Amino acid sequence: MRNKGGRRKTNAVASVHRNRYVEVMAQETDRDAQKRAAAEAAAALVEDGMVVGLGTGSTAWFAIEALIRRVREGLRILAIPTSERSGAQARAGGIPLTSFAEHPRLDIDIDGADEVELGSLHLIKGLGGALLREKIVAAAADRLVIVADSKKLVTRLGGTAPLPVEVVPFGWETTAERLRRLGADPVLRKGGDGQPFHTDGGNLILDCRFGPITDPAGLDLAIRQTIGVVESGLFVGMADTVIVGGDAGIVRYSRVGATATGTP
Ligand code: 5RP
Repeated sequence: MRNKGGRRKTNAVASVHRNRYVEVMAQETDRDAQKRAAAEAAAALVEDGMVVGLGTGSTAWFAIEALIRRVREGLRILAIPTSERSGAQARAGGIPLTSFAEHPRLDIDIDGADEVELGSLHLIKGLGGALLREKIVAAAADRLVIVADSKKLVTRLGGTAPLPVEVVPFGWETTAERLRRLGADPVLRKGGDGQPFHTDGGNLILDCRFGPITDPAGLDLAIRQTIGVVESGLFVGMADTVIVGGDAGIVRYSRVGATATGTP
């Protein structure tokens, strides 16, 4: 192994790097296992004949995979995806898709989250860039089931994740200024190519750090009333159940409390 200057690194340094790499991979694997366990438990809630919302993100990906497996085993469902990429995954796996024109109500929606507030189950969503479609699908579902790993649990929203806000491209700079006046520090989201990231609906996302959010409902309202804003990533009072994968198994949270239910 050579560094930039072409000098051979000592075995000791290389070994530290190797160990660190192994450690990071192990952590990632653990986190994926937590996501998968939560996703499998959520997919098990889906019954024959249901219309199902398919979320977006790495945890929702596991849930869609679990549903693909169940469909191959004979489960009959119809689904509405929250993003083009989740739709593509579902189509490739054989889950039949439907539309709001045919099915204005869904029985269940399974989606991920960036932060879940303990107690209230209010959420921050949208780091995956699909918050508008996610909110539309969640609002049309009889039951919103959130799947997450334990790192997503917080005592107060806004401490770790920025709050994504979807805005129309026209005049986004002025929208950002209005959000700044609400106390945020908006940053225009960029894609891997360094260009502004566009949502499936062609909008932009401003990632806003408000700091710890003491009044999620009030802030959500204020953001949504801001000219130029399409939707905020605060999901207030929408989650019915949150299934969290952790080291000791999965825990289900509902608005009335939490129960530990088995191991991943
Ligand atoms: C996408 C979302 C995702 O559900 C959220 O970002 C969580 O993603 P992941 O499961 O990959 O952590 O809101 O808009």
